[in-house]
Amino acid sequence: MKRWCIPLLVVLAGCRGQASSDPPIHLFGDMDWQPKFQPEEGTRLFPDGRAMRPIVEGTVAQGALDESEAYRTGKDGETFLAFAPITVDEAVIRRGQDRFNIYCAPCHDQSGSGQGMVVKRGYPPPIDLASERALGLPDGEIFNVITNGVRNMPSYRKQIPVKDRWAIVTWVRVLQHSQHARIDDVPEAQRGNIAKESGTP
Ligand code: HEC
Repeated sequence: MKRWCIPLLVVLAGCRGQASSDPPIHLFGDMDWQPKFQPEEGTRLFPDGRAMRPIVEGTVAQGALDESEAYRTGKDGETFLAFAPITVDEAVIRRGQDRFNIYCAPCHDQSGSGQGMVVKRGYPPPIDLASERALGLPDGEIFNVITNGVRNMPSYRKQIPVKDRWAIVTWVRVLQHSQHARIDDVPEAQRGNIAKESGTP
């Protein structure tokens, strides 16, 4: 460093940190004026004039996940939940059907019998989802099977968000019900149609 630099640096350094009513001299203002927004600051960049943006739908800020352990794992302690901890309506079931046909049907087929395309091409066949065993699985265990996989079935934790996993569980129940339906389940006015379609008198 050239010798004359030292006094120059001392002089420049002296420009900061003293009591003065004058605004400080900023030779290099980079760190003081950063191209960023402070909380609550306004901007003309967005139509609502706010620099702070609302939370994007479907995202969660780190540390702000507000879901119970049971909802995320399907378990209450070590016990599987008997029933999905969600409100079930037609939209949820339809969503479950949609996701099931994408993620599960390749192996389990759309009816759940276990003859999906992947199985027809050699993958170990799964159990019939309407079998006694599958009927006896609590909702939480089916959720857990989707989350972690089981034996020959891979995990779908990464592909299917928690909410959709529960929706799929409701659709599995619908499939099971459809395979074990009795004539009493069909509204009387429509019973004639079934007889016609299935060819039974
Ligand atoms: C890659 C093929 C494949 C896909 C995709 C798949 N499964 Fe499976 N599933 C299997 C196989 C194989 C088994 C039998 C596992 C075993 O017992 O070895 C199985 C078993 C199951 C069982 C019974 C578990 C038990 O304890 O007996 C359930 C319930 C199930 N799957 C649900 C689903 C659902 C819901 C989906 C969609 C999210 C899905 N599976 C996607 C292959 C698949």
